[in-house]
Amino acid sequence: MNPEFHASRRACAAAGQPISQLMARALENPALISLAAGFVDGQTLPDDAVRQAMTSLLQDSRVAAAALQYGSTPGYHGLRRMLRDQMHQADGQDRPVDLDQIVITAGSNQLLHLVSESLLEPGDIVLCASPTYLVYMGLLLGLEARAFGVASDAQGMIPEALDDQLRRIQAAGELQRVKAIYLVPYFDNPAGATMPMDRRVAVVEMAKRWSRGSPIHVISDEAYRELRYTGDDIPSPRVCDDSGDTVIVAGTFSKSFSPGIRVGWGVLPRHLIQPVCDLKGNVDFGSPNFTQHLMARVLQMGLYEPHVAGLRESYHRKLTAMLDAADEFLSPLDDVRWERPAGGLYVWLELPDTVDAGLDGLLFQLSIREGVLYVPGQYCYPEEGEPPQKNRIRLSFGVQSCEKIREGVEKLARAIAAVTV
Ligand SMILES: Cc1ncc(COP(=O)(O)O)c(C=O)c1O
Repeated sequence: MNPEFHASRRACAAAGQPISQLMARALENPALISLAAGFVDGQTLPDDAVRQAMTSLLQDSRVAAAALQYGSTPGYHGLRRMLRDQMHQADGQDRPVDLDQIVITAGSNQLLHLVSESLLEPGDIVLCASPTYLVYMGLLLGLEARAFGVASDAQGMIPEALDDQLRRIQAAGELQRVKAIYLVPYFDNPAGATMPMDRRVAVVEMAKRWSRGSPIHVISDEAYRELRYTGDDIPSPRVCDDSGDTVIVAGTFSKSFSPGIRVGWGVLPRHLIQPVCDLKGNVDFGSPNFTQHLMARVLQMGLYEPHVAGLRESYHRKLTAMLDAADEFLSPLDDVRWERPAGGLYVWLELPDTVDAGLDGLLFQLSIREGVLYVPGQYCYPEEGEPPQKNRIRLSFGVQSCEKIREGVEKLARAIAAVTV
């Protein structure tokens, strides 16, 4: 008899993610209005822009041949140059970053993975907002690292709470285990919070001040930066890092253009370029070259900005539809609160303390019966640090039409009313 197969410890740690259960529920019942999936809107995907860019790319046989060949590990220099210029313009710094600090990855998730793998040993700690992006916590679990929650409010991670948490970790003799602070500073997933400039400054300053046992990096995941519907853009936390050795930026075209093309990037402090590229060399020795050339062509032909402008308009309408529906159907309910995000794809709801919004709770069952699906907020909380809250839920307005968003929120309100009588 063949010996029995056992998946590796890392593969076992990756199993049983709640998000796959949610997806299964959505697929079982196509009539369900899913306000759960954080997908971008299928109706606004840039098929026309991609067709034009692709045609242009393939017409030039020299460029086409280069694009269809393997590329380099850090990525296509033409695209990296455009990203550097774009960031320089957006952040208004005196000097742009050096080209070799920019690495192109297959989505920003790969960058988060490579950076985390470069920084972390098993047992190391990453401080995250509580709640935070649940896929990143899964990634940390796979690396046998620990996500540690820091109290957050409508403006993201609270610097004073971060200071307190670091002091407690120091008192427990584990400060040298803290290797990074993970932020989603623009319209975060799941809470929709945006960090104001003074908090960005404070967190970067704190990372430097507490870098005693080992250096503490700030990972700034800027996946939603371009999806702002009201107010002005805020510079990246990177601009607060005068010495350039603390902040890592993760960016992506997934949310602002197409997740199917899946081009992301990182801006790295100098000492991380080699480790990240060494790891990437072993994984894929360079992200798909064709999609990088395609994105460069999209930018070069001026097809990107008009697309993002249209996307902002469309998502702004959907966000307004969700907030209007919340005002109409949820505000009559006691102790139901939500923030009004200025961008992104999510609205975060706080329900009465007595409600368990988890997959096994009554609200989830009643919501499914009503015909609406949400993400239970409890899965978005790190295992250690600030305790998880069972009475929170994440609603996404990206995929559904304005009518379906309204209908979905109305159904959800009925389910909440039924569990809170
Ligand atoms: C906060 C955050 N970061 C990163 C990503 C991953 O995006 P990408 O497609 O670039 O890997 C997502 C996707 O939902 C996200 O919400």
